[in-house]
Amino acid sequence: MVKHTPTSVVTIERFIIEQERQFPEATGELSGVLYDVALAAKMIANKVRSAGLADILGAEGTENVQGEQQQKLDVIANDIMVKAMDHGGRLCAMASEEEPDIIQIPDGFKCGKYVLTFDPLDGSSNIDVNVPVGTIFSVMRKITRGTRGEMEDMLQPGRRQVAAGYIIYGSSTMLVYTTGQGAHGFTLDPSIGEFLLSHPNIAIPERGKYLSVNDSYEQAWEDNVKGLMRRYRGLEGDRAPLSVRYVGSLVADFHRNLLGGGIFCYPANTKSPRGKLRLLYEASPLAFIAEQAGGMATDGHQRILDIQPTELHQRTPLFIGSKDECELANQMLGTGA
Ligand code: AHG
Ligand code: MN
Ligand code: MN
Ligand code: MN
Repeated sequence: MVKHTPTSVVTIERFIIEQERQFPEATGELSGVLYDVALAAKMIANKVRSAGLADILGAEGTENVQGEQQQKLDVIANDIMVKAMDHGGRLCAMASEEEPDIIQIPDGFKCGKYVLTFDPLDGSSNIDVNVPVGTIFSVMRKITRGTRGEMEDMLQPGRRQVAAGYIIYGSSTMLVYTTGQGAHGFTLDPSIGEFLLSHPNIAIPERGKYLSVNDSYEQAWEDNVKGLMRRYRGLEGDRAPLSVRYVGSLVADFHRNLLGGGIFCYPANTKSPRGKLRLLYEASPLAFIAEQAGGMATDGHQRILDIQPTELHQRTPLFIGSKDECELANQMLGTGA
């Protein structure tokens, strides 16, 4: 691995190619997928940052497969992702939060060896109030024969991911990704339109500072979840209380905890008995990042990355972030993973 000195300007493209060169057998196709994601991220950032000036705030007036009111930016970001990714010849199919079924590559385009799942715009409820939102993506190898994406290609456990990451459209636009060689952060320099390496080898603090949870659901939690939250808050047991920070955008809450140390919790509740967050394009990709940064991600009983999906949009309880807090979740909620 090339040693980067403080003076070196490392673009994401240079970093991707340097990582690729560590694998002589690499064909460059995965690198191509990552380049295309970085391009889509810049295009979505451009829309998000000018949303207040163009008539693209607010609801689209349609409902997605999740039963959510789609925001105009949900649809715009989804279209950008599909159009940026569907002709590069590296993917054979995609799946999006905003589309009910698998998105096939259009006829006439080469079907590649990877599949992509993504949440084109995460935190949609925050768009109109100018609170950070994000995009989440996950890449896996196609495992079925033929030139069409099959459900079996999508329904792979998260440990089969070959790349995953997210973009946060916050005070700056950052892209964080992993291909299994650590988690690395790049900040968009809008003056040159390039993502530059700003956070190499991200390491999440072993013990957290922050607790991110929407405790308006407290009455709807199981008793063991209530007990766990009381421990995080220092109301029981001997732990110092965590500071509560909850943005309501998973990407924003996760990113703060990744850099500062902490845990994000979205437990199952009576309204969402399997949890609210989606496994394939929210929990799994962020779990890959968390583990690569030395953290953990669990549903309270097992590693997120070991869950065998059975449906495209299936949901999961999620406890993700610093190892110490995740281990407590496993101890108090389940058999421990
Ligand atoms: P999305 O906007 O992609 O549908 O995701 C919203 C998710 C996630 O971003 C966030 O952590 C969670 O919804 C917030 O849920 P509550 O409003 O129930 O707290
Ligand atoms: Mn949504
Ligand atoms: Mn989301
Ligand atoms: Mn979304």
